[in-house]
Amino acid sequence: MPTSLLFICLGNICRSPLAEGIFLHHVNRRGVADRFDVDSAGTGGWHAGERADPRARAVAEAHGIVLPSRARQVERRDFERFDRLVCMDRENRRALLAMGAPAERTSLLLSFDPDAGVDEVPDPYYGGDAGFSEVFDLVHRATERLLDALLADKAAAP
Ligand code: 4NP
Repeated sequence: MPTSLLFICLGNICRSPLAEGIFLHHVNRRGVADRFDVDSAGTGGWHAGERADPRARAVAEAHGIVLPSRARQVERRDFERFDRLVCMDRENRRALLAMGAPAERTSLLLSFDPDAGVDEVPDPYYGGDAGFSEVFDLVHRATERLLDALLADKAAAP
C-alpha cells in the first residue's frame, strides 16, 4: 500500500501546492513515486477550483517543476483517506484539529527540518516574489527530509 500524504495550507494556492509538487519531484527523482499517494488542500475554500498562484507556479517552473493541481478545501473524510496530514503553519494544524483530525497524524512540515531556523512556512500570498523564493527553499528542503524519514520508516517496517 502506498503511503498517502495530504499537504495543507490556508488557501491551497501557494504553499501546499508547492509542497505537493516538490514532494512529487523528489519521489520521481528517486524512483519511488509508486510508493506515495500525494495531494494538497486548504483549510479555506475561497480559491476552490483555481490553479496555483502564478507566483508559486513561476518559482516552481524556474526549478523545472510543474504545479498542475487545482485548489480544494480539506474535508473530514480526508482524515481517514490520508496517512499523514502535513501542515504549513500552526494555524492550519489548529484548524484541522478543530475539525477532528487525529493529532498523531497531523504534523508541521518544518518539524522534519530542524535546521530550517523557523517552524512554520510563512504565508507568501500578500508579499512579493522574494517570499515565494523563500517558501520554495524551505519547502524543498523539508519535503526532502520528510521523504527521507518516510523511506527510513518503511525500511524499518517488518
Ligand atoms: P496559501 O496562501 O495558504 O499558501 O495558499 C494564501 C492564499 C490565499 C489567501 C491566503 C493565503 N487568501 O486569503 O485568499
